[in-house]
Amino acid sequence: MEYQFLKYDNSREGICVLTIASPATLNALNTTILAELDAFVSSIDTSSTRVLIITGEGKAFVAGADIAQMSGLNHDEGYEFGRYGATIFKKIEDLEIPVIAAVNGFALGGGCELAMSCDIRVASVKASFGQPEVNLGIIPGFSGTYRLSKLVGQGIAKELIYTGDRISADEALRIGLVNKVVAPDELMDTVIAMAERILTSAPVAVRYAKRCINENYDLTADEAIALENRYFAQCFATADQKEGMSAFLEKRKPTFENK
Ligand code: COA
Repeated sequence: MEYQFLKYDNSREGICVLTIASPATLNALNTTILAELDAFVSSIDTSSTRVLIITGEGKAFVAGADIAQMSGLNHDEGYEFGRYGATIFKKIEDLEIPVIAAVNGFALGGGCELAMSCDIRVASVKASFGQPEVNLGIIPGFSGTYRLSKLVGQGIAKELIYTGDRISADEALRIGLVNKVVAPDELMDTVIAMAERILTSAPVAVRYAKRCINENYDLTADEAIALENRYFAQCFATADQKEGMSAFLEKRKPTFENK
């Protein structure tokens, strides 16, 4: 499929690197880019792509939703715009496969929200994060109030959202917003190495683990523990569990079949 603002690289087996490429406006998310992201995520083949990496071209990961486009919206159009972005980010969060954000630069507003819809965030030391929407007279609209609170706790989320302050990658690491911070020229090697590590794990188990963690998010403790029990049990109905445990007992490397 041809995209105007997305580039993707499937050259490494099992890994797809998706680059948002509209550097003249710091990869700001307009409706065309959102539609392309939607099409990409909706069509990804998760049997051949087992880890997705999302990054940005140039000095930004994504500098937010497109302010020029948002400036003329009325109430109903604002509702639709927010709903559209939030729906796409939920699709990213719900993808069967792990998604890693390789945050190369500015991750502001919708960019921070995009990174938060990914499973794991690795940042270049040049990256910065923030939800500066209040400076524009709006609040985060692509689920930032929800996911930021979940990731870093309400107190810190409220401070970041009320002030609109931009924070460094190291500060994002300190508050638990990112998993790792690396030198700019090590960013892609680090995320590819992480993706390759994930590829050695039993694919069905990774899928169940992701589903279980995501679905556990808003449950009570009893519900969450019961849900994990069900997914745990389902693993024992897979060929990969038989292979993983046999390989351990036979002191050899497992060959998983994704079944
Ligand atoms: N929407 C639309 N255009 C954007 C944008 C956004 N979110 N962020 C950056 N751009 C555009 C700028 O308008 C500028 O366009 P121009 O060259 O036609 O003037 C271009 O991208 C480069 O940005 P610029 O501001 O010149 O780069 P900078 O390095 O000086 O500053 C930022 C970088 C990220 C600090 C600054 O662009 C910024 O504050 N962006 C908005 C961030 C934001 O509020 N995001 C949340 C939106 S809800």
